[in-house]
Amino acid sequence: MLQKQITTLEKEIANYHINSLEELAIFKQKYIGKKNEAFTLLFEQLKKMPAEEKKHFGKLLNSIKNIAQEKYNQYEKQHNKQSLSANSAPEDLTLPPAYSQPGTIHPLNQITQKIIHLFRRIGFSLADGPEIESDWNNFSALNFPQDHPAREMQDTFFIARPTKEKSLLRTHTSSVQVRTMQHNNPPIKILSTGKVFRKEAISARTHCMFHQLEGLYINDEVSFIDLKNTIFYFVENFFGPKIKIRFRPSYFPFTEPSAEVDISCLLCKSKGCAVCKHTGWVEIAGAGMIDPNVLTNCKIDPEKYTGFAFGMGIERIAMLYYQIPDIRLFTQNDIRFLRQFAAKI
Ligand code: PHE
Repeated sequence: MLQKQITTLEKEIANYHINSLEELAIFKQKYIGKKNEAFTLLFEQLKKMPAEEKKHFGKLLNSIKNIAQEKYNQYEKQHNKQSLSANSAPEDLTLPPAYSQPGTIHPLNQITQKIIHLFRRIGFSLADGPEIESDWNNFSALNFPQDHPAREMQDTFFIARPTKEKSLLRTHTSSVQVRTMQHNNPPIKILSTGKVFRKEAISARTHCMFHQLEGLYINDEVSFIDLKNTIFYFVENFFGPKIKIRFRPSYFPFTEPSAEVDISCLLCKSKGCAVCKHTGWVEIAGAGMIDPNVLTNCKIDPEKYTGFAFGMGIERIAMLYYQIPDIRLFTQNDIRFLRQFAAKI
């Protein structure tokens, strides 16, 4: 009877699965602790037995008790090791990686690069010039006579400087064209791009600082058709082949004839919206044939050479392309706005 109970207990202990701390605690309570029922009851029975059997079963029970203790020690050790290694682990490999946040290319730079890339393919190279300009490079050379009302078209920030000549913040990148014409012989085929400044109230549509990109091509026999083809090439490759283009007669002091270039409104598909002021068209560029006076001012013979020029506001192009409603967003440095353009181009 006692033999049977001891054998059952032995099997029970050997087959006992300990997979957690809770199970280890139950095992301890059942087989190890002073008040454990399993062994206490059997030892009780042993007391009433004859000496011979007492000795035999006593030995047996003690060896099983040792097995239980050993099993307990082994699992306890194992558990401590696990929790120890968990505590001292340098890193939790299951955590998501800590991404570094690289900067992104500003949407205006993305648009500029895209436009430059297109014009490079048809032979335009880049020219550069300063943001602080002389009155001559920004106005006089470009056929704006002194005190002519045309200067009012571009409200200017003048710089107070103790020099003979007036300095100003350039109002357009046409000043770079003047610099290039003065120092190079035709053929000239350049793009100039950068910041320009105008004394305008800041609103959703206008800013006192924005970016322009202008093109200039001078050679013998350059005609208005060449200008139109260049604009068509740009618009179709930049906005897509379905866009409609129109040239509207306009006025600039430095070009004759002059035109403004409109494209069909991308936002409302020409149905009429606030962006196109319900006309179905949006203006994207000014353009024209270089006025002979400008060529003469820059020491290029107008009898020998002709040329065209065009200019556009990059913010305007970017706003149409990405459908951005407010020009101020470009300079507010709001990372939530800028991140949207992280992988656009
Ligand atoms: N410079 C003009 C402007 O800023 C744009 C333009 C450039 C118009 C070249 C015609 C030709 O308004």
